[in-house]
Amino acid sequence: MCGIVGYLGTSNAPPLLLSGLKHLEYRGYDSAGMAVIGANGLEIRRCVGRVSALEDLVHQQPISGSLGIAHTRWASHGKPSEENAHPHVDQARKIALVHNGIIENHAALRTCLSEKGVQFSSETDTEVLAQLIGCYYAQSGKLVCSVREALKMVQGTFGIAVICEDEPQTLIAARQGSPLLVGMVEHGEYLVASDPAALAGRAPQAVFLKDGEMAIVTPAGIELSTIDAEPVGVTFEAIDQTLERIELGRFEHYMQKEIHEQPESLRMTLSGRVDSRTANITLGGLTNFERQLSHFKRVLLFGCGSAWHAGLIGEYLIEELAELPTEVQYSSELRYRNPLIEEGTLAIAISQSGETADTLAALHEVRTRGATVLGIVNNVGSTIARETDAGVYLHVGPEIGVASTKAFLGQVTVLSMLAVYLGRRKHLSRDTISTFLSELERIPEAIEQTLLLESQMREIAYKFSGRQNWLYLGRGINYPTALEGALKLKEVSYIHAEGLPAAEMKHGPIAMIDEGMPVVVIATRDVTYQKILSNMEEVRSRGGEVIAIVNQPDAQIERLAKNVVVVPRTQPMLSPLVASVPLQLLAYHAALSRGLDVDKPRNLAKSVTVE
Ligand code: F6R
Repeated sequence: MCGIVGYLGTSNAPPLLLSGLKHLEYRGYDSAGMAVIGANGLEIRRCVGRVSALEDLVHQQPISGSLGIAHTRWASHGKPSEENAHPHVDQARKIALVHNGIIENHAALRTCLSEKGVQFSSETDTEVLAQLIGCYYAQSGKLVCSVREALKMVQGTFGIAVICEDEPQTLIAARQGSPLLVGMVEHGEYLVASDPAALAGRAPQAVFLKDGEMAIVTPAGIELSTIDAEPVGVTFEAIDQTLERIELGRFEHYMQKEIHEQPESLRMTLSGRVDSRTANITLGGLTNFERQLSHFKRVLLFGCGSAWHAGLIGEYLIEELAELPTEVQYSSELRYRNPLIEEGTLAIAISQSGETADTLAALHEVRTRGATVLGIVNNVGSTIARETDAGVYLHVGPEIGVASTKAFLGQVTVLSMLAVYLGRRKHLSRDTISTFLSELERIPEAIEQTLLLESQMREIAYKFSGRQNWLYLGRGINYPTALEGALKLKEVSYIHAEGLPAAEMKHGPIAMIDEGMPVVVIATRDVTYQKILSNMEEVRSRGGEVIAIVNQPDAQIERLAKNVVVVPRTQPMLSPLVASVPLQLLAYHAALSRGLDVDKPRNLAKSVTVE
């Protein structure tokens, strides 16, 4: 959450900072601010609201200078307000700082600084760090040393960028648990950012800071060291972000764009990895790992939100295709539950951003207990991708919309491949693999056809737009599809929705069904089809209105459901990849029908880098 941009060079910083912030706005959008050092010394502009509000402010009250830092915030400490917005300054107003993460010992540090006479102007943990650096600076007059000393006092997580009025040629960045990179535009011109998206179209290569590292950026270059001042070599990596990939194009919202991108995104996920003719799967990220794979006896999948739902689908796939007992855990639960990691456990962290704090902590926990950890991650070079032993990237491109769509389908696709990859070295026959893979190769096309249902989903969304309670039912591998459909509706439209295994409904939730209540039922063909028809009957006889997602309609469906959505038929284990798409469209249009901002739902941020 929150986004950081910093600039040091020869151009005017504010337009570059604003442009970077716009690409990061999906990470937090309750307030924004920037600090620039120019002819007038240190100047700050901050406001509540979106980056566009900051842009207006900077337009009305211009500032200029070729060194600056900026921030878009998702409040964790202190309500969204101008005082709490970043950058924060020290008492002498010389030093400005932007920060992602949480300073856990902020209260103790605040007390200590207050006793020394420091007066605070915000409720944030970040100001404590700015004031602490300011105190050291007042004593030493040396910025770099002051930042090092202050960071040694801090417990918690941080990604920070710091500037000082007296040192207009220095930009400092440091990281502990919150991502940060320094991109090189050209020699002498640098951008610091919390996410490669902010560098799109500007810096082709960047240095990714590791935990405990600090970068001192000056016109002469980037000097990298640990916070304790041990020198570290500088390694540049290419940035896989272009402006076209993260701009909206013909779409109104990122969520819509990303839903429509799914056929292409999944082609990228599958590209060069799956060949049904030769019954072959190549997962480059696991090449050095292949020999170990046959030793694993069980699998532990973990993630949060949509990634956890993908894990639940993965559980069915891996148990069915690889015949390995599989367990799925919420990362936030796993990290605190004293997990029993038996020998031969393959743990797999699932994360779009690769930065989710709970998933990262769970990764550390299971690794400490002896598990080998793989990553299924989208953001190349993210912390989880770096910390896992090996992994498979999603390759679906940057996901900007706060609600996960293409990354979720990418995760399920990777888990399908992984299930076959693990199964083929055990018992799966060449024919079975070949048939499954050819079905997988057809999925992008099936999604293309499914996207043609958009106007029908829009109609359904508007029809039920006034209903505040929805149920989503599925069975077997489509129970997680129901959970994911309900989550999408909740997060973008603020409608209460519950996902359930269909048969569980009669153990309680059935009491909620009243006249006209929308109940989405995923009733694609598999062994549970007849059973789910009975569940639909239970809904209908209590007045609920069924929205059925089917792939082979028949007279029974026509009788039970007033709204029938027909998606292409697939191999049953791959049906979540297709059945999820109308549910994404439904949520998208439900939000629009209520006049909501789908890409920036209230209270949410794209990647949750705090606990
Ligand atoms: C839902 C959504 C979230 C994320 C969750 C995990 O649409 O986007 O539930 O799936 O916060 O995020 P990652 O995958 O980045 O670890």
